[in-house]
Amino acid sequence: MNRIVYLNGQWLPEAEAKVSIFDRGYVFGDAIYEVTAVTQGKLLDYPGHVARFHRSIGEVGIVCPVSDEELLAAHREIVTRNSLDEGLIYLQLSRGPADRDFHFPKAPVPTLSMFTQAKKFIDDDAHVRDGVSVITLPDLRWGRRDIKTVQLLYPSMAKMEAEKQGAYDAWLYQDGYITEATSSSAHIVTRDGVLVTRPLSHAILPGITRGSILSLAREAGIPVEERMFTVDEAKAAAEAIVTSATQLVQPVVKIDGQPIGDGKPGPLTKRLRKIYIDYHLAHLI
Ligand code: PDD
Repeated sequence: MNRIVYLNGQWLPEAEAKVSIFDRGYVFGDAIYEVTAVTQGKLLDYPGHVARFHRSIGEVGIVCPVSDEELLAAHREIVTRNSLDEGLIYLQLSRGPADRDFHFPKAPVPTLSMFTQAKKFIDDDAHVRDGVSVITLPDLRWGRRDIKTVQLLYPSMAKMEAEKQGAYDAWLYQDGYITEATSSSAHIVTRDGVLVTRPLSHAILPGITRGSILSLAREAGIPVEERMFTVDEAKAAAEAIVTSATQLVQPVVKIDGQPIGDGKPGPLTKRLRKIYIDYHLAHLI
């Protein structure tokens, strides 16, 4: 790969972008990130991502060194510099380098970095056409999953366990209720056609795609319930769905080996995917 990346105001070939080994993002996982999808060389739902970025950094007390205008300009410039047609922009802000100390440094110099990754996600691929399978695992992440930190070891371990068991991903549960997937929001559709998703709390990330899907579904007259649902309810559902910035709306057709509905991507999943894509392709920035 020969990307141009952003590091603290500089544009650099990726091999030349260097961050200190004392960086608190590296030593403590003391960093916040965002992932924004890009298609047709434009940003998809950027306002949602930047708003969540501000919320996350506010929760952990990291101050962004650039203005919102500069951040948007950098998102646009990284797309241009890398001739990115479709893929994602990864943004990370760490508290920066400091001597190793659990206390935050008194005068932090945060590290702001961005890179792109090419990925196709608008056209239906095999995952969208056939659906994916998930296993369920206990949610052993920390108690502030609403903050988008780079502490992703448990989600990585859960994905590896899913892969070991021949599944695409894992849905996580706590006290018998589904929280979310390892890197996406989890939803079900009841046999009465109600889209059910867990309400926001410290237990889940406020998914930007989740928020958009809920409002687009409501606008389309699709019944929506924000409530907890159990692993058993998910297995008995008519449809199961995951949403995220780069998976958009993806059908889940098997949970712990049990087919969901008729074991094929369901009609509401397909409809929501189409509604989501149509809306956002008309609102790229
Ligand atoms: N993951 N829940 C978790 C735990 C996530 O990591 C993500 C996103 C989501 C969906 O959020 P959004 O709709 O805003 O992408 C839900 C990103 C894409 C990632 O880590 O790569």
